[in-house]
Amino acid sequence: MSVKLSDVLKDADKSSGVDSSLSEYKAHFRNAERGESDDEKSEHQTVNNLYYDLVTDFFEYGWGKSFHFAPRVPGESFKASLARHEHYMAHTLGLRPGMVVADIGCGVGGPLMEIARFSGAKIVGVNSNAYQLERARKLTREAKLADLADFIHCDFLSVEAPDESFDAAYSIEASCCAPDKVSIYREIYRLLKPGACFGAYEYCMTERFDASNPHHLRIKADIQLGGGLLIIDDYQTVDDALRTVGFEVLETRDLTLQAGPSIPWYQPLAGSGISFASFRSSRIGRSVTHGTLRVLEALRIVPQGSVRVADTLNLCAAAMAEAGRLEIFTPMYFVHARKPA
Ligand SMILES: C[S@@+](CC[C@H](N)C(=O)[O-])C[C@H]1O[C@@H](n2cnc3c(N)ncnc32)[C@H](O)[C@@H]1O
Repeated sequence: MSVKLSDVLKDADKSSGVDSSLSEYKAHFRNAERGESDDEKSEHQTVNNLYYDLVTDFFEYGWGKSFHFAPRVPGESFKASLARHEHYMAHTLGLRPGMVVADIGCGVGGPLMEIARFSGAKIVGVNSNAYQLERARKLTREAKLADLADFIHCDFLSVEAPDESFDAAYSIEASCCAPDKVSIYREIYRLLKPGACFGAYEYCMTERFDASNPHHLRIKADIQLGGGLLIIDDYQTVDDALRTVGFEVLETRDLTLQAGPSIPWYQPLAGSGISFASFRSSRIGRSVTHGTLRVLEALRIVPQGSVRVADTLNLCAAAMAEAGRLEIFTPMYFVHARKPA
């Protein structure tokens, strides 16, 4: 079903404060980036919450209920590719009925619902953003999946659940929001039963990223600011962190490097906007959204500041598309690891 821009923003009941929240987000982001915050971990939470309060409606409008990228092949719809990426995670982890599985950084529950349906496992979504959890609870109820879904409102660096309480855990483009990989992987390791597996799609700068190239650095900085990301690690840092906390690494690989015909993961951000499925997230679609928002903002139908939020996301989308084209960034460094039995 199509979602109207004014409806999603109205639904959020955020009639004021968007403009000041965006300024606050940018100030916190710059402080945290410069290491000028008193408490790095709580600063990272603040940045994350401000960011997702601001952008969740835009993501749902422009992308859907699953806030991630996916490998896609010719002839496959955008929606089908997202579901296939989620099924791949469920399949690799061997999820099945009777298992209790943590979804670390669950967004509004798009992947959680698809994976619960696909596997029959009970999925517990962990998220620190209250607004997203409210949406996730509503959406799972509407989808009649409440029996297979549960939620914990907390920081994923200190999850309110006992040691060894999960049969598996996954994180889809969410552990990338942690201030460092060792902290988040250590917490996931604690939550898993001995012998249980963890899977992730991580954001990474690839081996083509050149830290002495100003253009590369500019792109990385725009992805970070527009994506609410205080760091973006490389492959090696991810692999090392998994081993540091005790995981046995079964497989890590960049899924953008698969052989065979494929549609680039960043195509929905860069495309011409001809395909309806990705029109809203494409360059032309974003420009139409920008124009519509200006009118809606002037008429006070959407909160003041909505255009600035959309512009910040556009900056990130353009940077991601360029990073994808240059192959210096991947949103799908696949991780499959096991806690030793
Ligand atoms: C890019 S979204 C991905 C959401 C979801 N996995 C999906 O694919 O639709 C990142 C998610 O991580 C969550 N997140 C970021 N930092 C967090 C933290 N410190 N504690 C809990 N959740 C966090 C955000 O609130 C958001 O839901």
